[in-house]
Amino acid sequence: MPNLLGQAITINRKTVRNRIVMPPMVCFNWGDGHGFETVDRAEHYGRRARGGVGLIVVEATAINREGRLHVSQLGLWSDDQVDQFARVATACHDGNAVVLVQLVHAGSKAIGPKLYSASSSVDGDKPIQAMEPEHIERVKQDFVQASLRAQAAGLDGVEVHGAHGYLLNQFTASRSNARTDGYGGTLAGRSRLALETVQAVRAALGPDFIIGYRFGANDPSLAEDGWLLDRLVAAGVDWFNISTGIGVESIVPPADFPEHYITWLGCALHAQRRRAGQIGRPTACVYGLVQPAQAERLLAGGQTDLVAIGRGLLADPDWANKALAGQAVNPCRHCKNGCAFRLDGRSCPVFGLSRAAATPA
Ligand SMILES: Cc1cc2nc3c(=O)[nH]c(=O)nc-3n(C[C@H](O)[C@H](O)[C@H](O)COP(=O)(O)O)c2cc1C
Repeated sequence: MPNLLGQAITINRKTVRNRIVMPPMVCFNWGDGHGFETVDRAEHYGRRARGGVGLIVVEATAINREGRLHVSQLGLWSDDQVDQFARVATACHDGNAVVLVQLVHAGSKAIGPKLYSASSSVDGDKPIQAMEPEHIERVKQDFVQASLRAQAAGLDGVEVHGAHGYLLNQFTASRSNARTDGYGGTLAGRSRLALETVQAVRAALGPDFIIGYRFGANDPSLAEDGWLLDRLVAAGVDWFNISTGIGVESIVPPADFPEHYITWLGCALHAQRRRAGQIGRPTACVYGLVQPAQAERLLAGGQTDLVAIGRGLLADPDWANKALAGQAVNPCRHCKNGCAFRLDGRSCPVFGLSRAAATPA
C-alpha cells in the first residue's frame, strides 16, 4: 500500500492533499478554433479531481490568438473565455483538487501567418521574425492579463510554460536565441523574458496566487538550469513541473535509475538544488509513470516531491484513488507515435472505456 503518494504538501499557501499531479495535456480538437471548448472541460478535469488527483494543471491555454500552438486550443485572451475556466475551477474544487491553468505562447511553433521567436530563422518555408521590444512587452502583458482572467475564474494559479521549445524556451535556450540585445547573449540575458514574465505575473496577482513553471531541463546543461531555477524562485515561482527543453534530446540515465531520461532530468535537478541548499520549492518529475509503484519508489527515494501522471490519468481517471488504495490501475497502452489522445480524446482506446465505465448506468 503506497504511503508517500498520499502525503499532503503545501504549495504557496494551499494544501495539496497528495503528491499526484495531473500535468497539462491539450485536448486536441475539443475546441471551436476561437479559444472556446466544444467538449466539457469541467467534466474532464472534475472527473480526475473526484478520482483523487491532488493538483491539476489544465492544458496549455493560449495567452493571445497569435501564440496558439494548435487551432483547437483553449484561450484566455478574452474575458468571454473566463466562464469555461470558472466551471473547471468549481468542478475541481468540488473534487478537492487544487487547480491551475498552463499559459503558453508558442513563438515560432505557433499557428498563423506571422511567427515570432527570440531570433530570426526559417521553419520549412515559413519565415520567423525576431521579436522586437514592443512584441516582448506585449507578451509579458498578455501573460499577466491571462493570469488575471485565471484568477477571476477562481483557479488557484497558473503554470507558465517555459519548456518544450515554446516561446519562453526559445529565449532561454542558447541554440534558438542569437540576440545581441539585453534578451540574448549570456544566460542572464536569455533568461530575462522568462524572469520578467514571472515577476510581472507575481506583481499583478499578489502573493497568494500559485505560480508554477514548466521547466525545460538540460538547456543547455543541468548547471545552467540550476542557475535559472534559483532566479525563477526569486521572481515568484512556487513549484516546478520539470520536463524537457530544446537541449540534448536523449540522455542516458544512470544504470540504477529505471525510468525515462525525462523523469531522470527532473530528479537530477531536484537533487542538484537540494544539494546546493537552494530552491526550497517543490518539484515534480514526469514521464512514463504508469504504475503507482514507480511513483512511490521515486518519492520514497527522496528523488522528487511530486509525481506527474499524464497519459496514465487519461487512461484511468481514478488512477489516484486506486493508487492510494493499493488497487490496480487501468494502464495507458502507450500507443504508437506517443499517444492516440493527441488526435482526439475519442481516439484513445482506454479513455473511451474508462469514461463509459465511470458513468453510472
Ligand atoms: C495528449 C497530450 C497533450 C499534451 N499537452 C501538453 C500541454 O498542454 N502542455 C505541456 O506542458 N505538456 C503537454 N503534454 C506533455 C505532458 O504534460 C507530459 O509531460 C507527458 O505526457 C509525459 O507524461 P506521461 O508519460 O505521464 O504521459 C501533453 C502530452 C500528451 C500525451
